[in-house]
Amino acid sequence: MQLDGKVALITGGGSGIGEAAAKALARAGAAVAVVDFRVGPAEAVVAAIRDEGGRAVAFAADVRAEEQVRAAVLGTVEQFGGLNIVFANAGINGMQTPIEEMTLDEWHDTIETNLTGTFLTVKHSIPHLRSTGGGSIVITASVNGNTTFSLPGYACYSSSKAAQVAFAKMAAGELARWGIRVNAILPGSVKTNLGERTYRRNLEKVTYDLRMPQPFPPLTGRPITPDEIAELVLFLASDASSQITGAEILIDAGLSLLRA
Ligand code: NAI
Repeated sequence: MQLDGKVALITGGGSGIGEAAAKALARAGAAVAVVDFRVGPAEAVVAAIRDEGGRAVAFAADVRAEEQVRAAVLGTVEQFGGLNIVFANAGINGMQTPIEEMTLDEWHDTIETNLTGTFLTVKHSIPHLRSTGGGSIVITASVNGNTTFSLPGYACYSSSKAAQVAFAKMAAGELARWGIRVNAILPGSVKTNLGERTYRRNLEKVTYDLRMPQPFPPLTGRPITPDEIAELVLFLASDASSQITGAEILIDAGLSLLRA
């Protein structure tokens, strides 16, 4: 799973899964663009990669803003001479609340970050992936909205994550003619900083009495680490997965087996 000579762009690269993937891809030999709307964390990830002898550059961009996404993609190509791998990963939980209490602004914030951000990242990457002869796009969806539907107040988040999978499959079919693969990963219960961009209001009104057997998740009984997700991203980015496209790959330590 070597990526020598490849160029990767990672959104949400300043923290959690994106940070771990940026480091893993850089260790495998890729030059990495770390894109995040929080530039300080993105620059810290870049510094850590460079300390290990890797190549990386940070771009401040909000994935909801088309011009910022376009500029980050162009900047990556100018800096490293092309683009081969795109990890559309930036996302938020946003407001978790009963549907009837969710404001339109809260709805838009989550949908625009998770779904529109994925669209813009993929859209502006396509011309560059095509001109480098193909590539791999990986999209971070979730178990929520795809294999599990039981977290209270997650209707908006889950809808955005289901739509990302539909988008990944449509894109896989459309882009196969140019040698571009597109896959969605469905993580569950990863220990990251996602909670910092999670807000909850009146959730008790829609909560169920859900009791999970212990250990949970059943395979390991502990949250997944971002590094364990990064191994899957590395596989999907590399030629080791050259016949895999349009796939949704569950990585949840068996969580969905018990929490549908
Ligand atoms: P995290 O909060 O640790 O990292 C997300 C990064 O995305 C942050 O650095 C944040 O600044 C950045 N970001 C957020 N909104 C942005 C925007 N509009 N523009 C640019 N950057 C933005 O969270 P984590 O867990 O690493 O999340 C990454 C992805 O994984 C998200 O799409 C999330 O929905 C997904 N996910 C996470 C799971 C978990 O258990 N942690 C489970 C399933 C999916």
